[in-house]
Amino acid sequence: MGVTIVSHPLVQHKLTIMRDKDTSTAGFRRLLKEISLLLCYEVTRDLQLTNITIQTPLVEMESPVIEGKKLVFASILRAGNGLLEGMLDLVPAARVAHIGLYRDHDTLQPVEYYFKAPEDIVNRLIIVVDPMLATANSAIVAIQKLKDRGASNIRFLCLLAAPEGIKRFTEAHPDVPVFTAAIDSHLNEKGYIVPGLGDAGDRMYGTK
Ligand code: PRP
Ligand code: URA
Repeated sequence: MGVTIVSHPLVQHKLTIMRDKDTSTAGFRRLLKEISLLLCYEVTRDLQLTNITIQTPLVEMESPVIEGKKLVFASILRAGNGLLEGMLDLVPAARVAHIGLYRDHDTLQPVEYYFKAPEDIVNRLIIVVDPMLATANSAIVAIQKLKDRGASNIRFLCLLAAPEGIKRFTEAHPDVPVFTAAIDSHLNEKGYIVPGLGDAGDRMYGTK
């Protein structure tokens, strides 16, 4: 299915400021929301349209709207919510799934603490969002949980990915296309993306 790198100059510019360790919590959060609007535009670029009949103030016309059932955005908590917020601004009628996972610092395995998704996800496009794809353990588990509930049309959207994570993810879920603003150099011994931007959740919420 492949990997799409969103190379739009505004995305790359904002990502550079987010990487800077001197960017404030407020600045980081604002930039993540802004960048999510641009990433949402790319990840939805090929959605099918269908014509409906409407009445303008002047005449009746056939005009396109997005075909099919409402989209589902699935946020991998916590940091996924930074992307989710902007995406909901663009697609306010989207349904939302929340998948609570955190990485155990020693094993780098995801620990699940919450899952809530709309009941009827089977025939919907699901866009899973999380700013970071590091080992890919979290994204692989999150997407498996959605597939276990019948989802089959899934895309994964992140901000930064490690080559190791891309490899593992595409092996585990070859049917799920990945959209990212950048693929960095490597993971360090603690599983952080290098050069990266640090811990996305901590930078968003000012925790440590
Ligand atoms: C971060 C990030 C991803 C995960 C990526 O979340 O938001 O969910 O790590 O790492 P992986 O690809 O190696 O699984 P974290 O576990 O720090 O939780 P948080 O969002 O609550 O801070
Ligand atoms: N999660 C993050 O937030 N940052 C990383 O670099 C790796 C995982």
